[in-house]
Amino acid sequence: MERIAIFASGTGSNAKKIIEHLQGHPDIEVSLVVSNNKNAKVLDMARSFNIQTLVIDKAQLKDNNYILEKFSIFPINFIVLAGFLLLVPRYLVGKFPKSIVNIHPALLPQFGGKGMYGMNVHKAVKESGVKETGITIHYVNEKYDEGSIIFQASCPVLPDDTPESIAKNVLKLEHEHFAKTIERILNKNLDSVK
Ligand code: GRF
Repeated sequence: MERIAIFASGTGSNAKKIIEHLQGHPDIEVSLVVSNNKNAKVLDMARSFNIQTLVIDKAQLKDNNYILEKFSIFPINFIVLAGFLLLVPRYLVGKFPKSIVNIHPALLPQFGGKGMYGMNVHKAVKESGVKETGITIHYVNEKYDEGSIIFQASCPVLPDDTPESIAKNVLKLEHEHFAKTIERILNKNLDSVK
């Protein structure tokens, strides 16, 4: 069984799509939703699906044992970052090689790195005058947005697009592709162990 922990700091619309997509999957389950924000809407959403939640602070994230001990109960073997705003510590990347994925709302390596999240990204895209943007799903290493790219999808940036309309178009791509890409990665893992 592949057991996923989803890390999210905010609304959790991607987390919700992933949970819905994997409901009833025989070999993959979302076992835990982790947030660094006790008021994050993603937590109530997870509870509505009877998924366990864990609220952590920066010290607990940095602690080499705290999260790993919580994970061992399930055990968790895959991590999905779906709008998680903190940097994943090195110890966690080391424990989950090629088993942590993130979604970034732009076509990396452009418009990535520290501070490039949410509307900051779409404002930068608009100001740059590029003709297209999109999403990047990538493995996570210890630097922001620098792991190997797994999947990208693009959409046009039209002259009358605003950062808000760009965000809407990009979020649609995220909702269309993130869950399916995660399932594809985990199905491959499952096939490789059969
Ligand atoms: C998405 O835009 C994603 O690209 C970024 O964080 C946002 C998460 O949105 N990593 P939501 O919380 O899933 O609605």
